[in-house]
Amino acid sequence: MAVPSTKPAVLPQVQEFLDRSHGLFIDGEFRPAAQGGTLSVLDPATGEQIATVAAATAVDVDAAVAAARAAQPGWATLAPSAKADLMWKLGEALEQRAQEFGQLESLDNGKPMGESGALDVPLCASLFKYYAGWITKLEGETMTPAGGLDMHVYTLREPVGVVGAIIPWNFPLLMCGYKLGPALAAGNTVVLKPAEQTPLSALRLAALMAEIGFPAGVVNVITGDGPDAGAPLAAHRDVDKITFTGENATGAKIIQASTGNMKKLTLELGGKSPSLVFADADLDAAVEGTFGAVYFNQGQCCIAGARVFVHSSIRDAFVAKLAERVRQVKLGPGLDADTTMGPLVSAEQRDRVNSLIASGLEQGATAVVGGAPVSDPALADGFYVEPTLFTDVTPDMTIMRQEIFGPVAMVSTFETDEEAIALANDTAFGLASGIWTRDVGRTHRVAKAIRAGVVWVNTYGMFDVAIPYGGFKASGYGKELGREAMEPYLQTKTVWIDLS
Ligand code: NAI
Ligand code: MG
Repeated sequence: MAVPSTKPAVLPQVQEFLDRSHGLFIDGEFRPAAQGGTLSVLDPATGEQIATVAAATAVDVDAAVAAARAAQPGWATLAPSAKADLMWKLGEALEQRAQEFGQLESLDNGKPMGESGALDVPLCASLFKYYAGWITKLEGETMTPAGGLDMHVYTLREPVGVVGAIIPWNFPLLMCGYKLGPALAAGNTVVLKPAEQTPLSALRLAALMAEIGFPAGVVNVITGDGPDAGAPLAAHRDVDKITFTGENATGAKIIQASTGNMKKLTLELGGKSPSLVFADADLDAAVEGTFGAVYFNQGQCCIAGARVFVHSSIRDAFVAKLAERVRQVKLGPGLDADTTMGPLVSAEQRDRVNSLIASGLEQGATAVVGGAPVSDPALADGFYVEPTLFTDVTPDMTIMRQEIFGPVAMVSTFETDEEAIALANDTAFGLASGIWTRDVGRTHRVAKAIRAGVVWVNTYGMFDVAIPYGGFKASGYGKELGREAMEPYLQTKTVWIDLS
């Protein structure tokens, strides 16, 4: 196939990395899996194998946990300023390597460079810099007993110990930052298990951390699949906490696995978020914002605001404009400069999303855009899905209840604010939501009434390292980002001293 002229060459350092034999990163070194297993890593744009990584099993998980346990006291007691220096340097190193990490991420996950190199990598870098700042600011308190006892009481903020981080494939590098930033800042050591579909940026990050001087064992990366590598980590008796992002069924298994030693958990699970477009909304802004809410990252976002409820008076104008916007999408490989939407992460996800689209049609929805498998022969080997816009959807349809995790919008209408709120809340999930209106009173009323962890008003999908993020209801528990994200990685020790 002819290489499009707009395609940037794969950077030599990226190619060199892909060609390595990738071991597990345990105790500061790369080593093969104990049982010798490997996994193939595919380029979602072509379906071709681009790398091979080690496939960990329980023996390797034991070794990684032992390394993390051995390293933990040293990391916790390393001078805060020294830890902060390392974290800051990691952030800087990532910024300097935005193109390299961006290409690696695009090749591994499929996402366009305009997202990986321009958003994922810099945001991950900013996470390490932000949490570097907290390391020197963790303080306990001195306290006065309410009973007025002659006691000196103070608290210490201590790390929970060894953290297992199990992450998904939709933001492979960024999720490393979400978990490692606060976990390391709090003085924990980590065993990180990237998703089997997208292990490369985590391995590259581990190598970078070693180059920068993070002590051996502070971060260990075990690549492998869920049952063989993730499950033993989730059940490990010497792991103090699991932080997980992924689907609810897996979250439930992690809760069950945690009971052996009553692990602490942070669970960032699925979503089925609503976008509400009121009659007084700035229509163009609402269309562009809703487009991003649904189709960003090929729709593979837990926050995707794909249940779109529009006031009936503006429904036709909104659908016409959104359809026009969706038709502008340029599908292609993530590395092509003119690609605006890449492939999905895997053939499995492509087939899953295509079958959900088919179920929408069977159940009576109308596909205004898309609705059929990709027909362009140039894209046939990749895991592409046609961006799809459904109307005539009803609340009971499968596409309105299940997380789709693909580029699919469902537009329906409402008449009153009360109806809009009821439709928004008609889901087991409660991750995020969007409101488009210029009415101040309505903004606050609706924001309060929506049962979700985030409400975006006249914008969607805004993230910032300093602002907490996390779901209500079946979307999980424990906040990420901001100061709040430090809390689940710390525990408070109370010290009483009798002064009499
Ligand atoms: P998953 O939740 O099964 O995978 C996420 C991570 O959990 C991966 O690292 C995986 O290896 C690990 N894992 C799987 N089984 C495990 C187990 N028994 N114990 C410990 N770790 C385990 O998600 P999957 O299967 O890749 O995707 C399925 C669906 O989940 C997607 O179609 C999407 O709807 C949803 N999903 C939601 C995400 C979110 O951010 N809310 C992220 C990824 C997927
Ligand atoms: Mg799964």
